[in-house]
Amino acid sequence: MKNIYSNIFSFNKKVLTKAIKNLKKGNVIGLPTETVYGLAGNAYIKKAIERIYTLKNRPKFNPLIVHYSDYKQAEKDVLFNSSFFKLYNKFCPGPITFILKKKKKSKIQSIAIANLKTVAIRFPSHKVSKTVIKKINFPLAMPSANLSGGISPTSAADVADEFKNNIKLIIDGKNSKLGIESTVVDLTGRPKILRKGIIDAIQIKKILKINYAKKSSYIKSPGLLSKHYSPGIPMRLNKKKCNKTYAFITFGKKYGNKNNHFNLSKKSDLKEAASNLYKTFRIIKKKGFKKIYVVKIPNRGPGVAINDRLKRASK
Ligand code: TXA
Ligand code: MG
Repeated sequence: MKNIYSNIFSFNKKVLTKAIKNLKKGNVIGLPTETVYGLAGNAYIKKAIERIYTLKNRPKFNPLIVHYSDYKQAEKDVLFNSSFFKLYNKFCPGPITFILKKKKKSKIQSIAIANLKTVAIRFPSHKVSKTVIKKINFPLAMPSANLSGGISPTSAADVADEFKNNIKLIIDGKNSKLGIESTVVDLTGRPKILRKGIIDAIQIKKILKINYAKKSSYIKSPGLLSKHYSPGIPMRLNKKKCNKTYAFITFGKKYGNKNNHFNLSKKSDLKEAASNLYKTFRIIKKKGFKKIYVVKIPNRGPGVAINDRLKRASK
């Protein structure tokens, strides 16, 4: 397909050099990760961070995730503990974010972390973001590349649709393989899952004792306070049937191919369903449906994260 966006570039040496040059200068660019696409800026430059907040229209109290190529790069910014290393050795690089205490000497801009004493850090596994971060000597603050409260982007075109020409460089790294944001684990006290993701509680519990965050501690993940991940269309969950005028998000082979049906995975594969979720929201929105019905999605494995996002999206 022809690239109709002038700010989307395929990944090659020239584009890598251009990306690095932009980040060094404090410009903001779009980068693919294995979870969703991110809006990346130099975490040590105030101007870059301010630009991210402005572009996303993100409330200043909601801190950003800071991305590194490996733990050695993060050593100067955060205090590690044994829980961190247990999870890092098992899952990194990959779709998991750790909340750790910030080192006093860290050069991370305080507005990037909403003036907190903690930092969310992540080590993406996607070849493009990994290569970019490896080549620079500063970390990347990188929230999902969407307007605050909306749906995370899972392709370069989605990023271009969100920000139009307000960002000059988006690197195309194909569709995000996982399609849902990273699991966020707070390791500053007794380990707690703050945001559910493809790496689920069962996998983490094999390695560590964890708690789910109680409602009252959601304040620890400010981004989870409000309505989020919303396609901006009323959505009803756990529906068995749907009339022709609403979009019907289905799962499994028993559902047909009607015009208003959008199957997340015909073979009932929850990982595939997760990777199709936001993409499906965007398609439905583009087609102009005024209401979305969703069938019941099994609440296991990636289904737990899918149901979490559906619940927030339907608020
Ligand atoms: O998969 C991902 O994590 C993607 C890709 C681009 O890496 N990024 C992402 O970033 O989802 P964002 O900004 O959309 O979500 C970050 C979440 C928010 O809910 C935020 O409140 C939480 O992490 N967070 C960041 N720093 C935190 C901190 N110090 N304490 C608690 N929660 C924090
Ligand atoms: Mg986000």
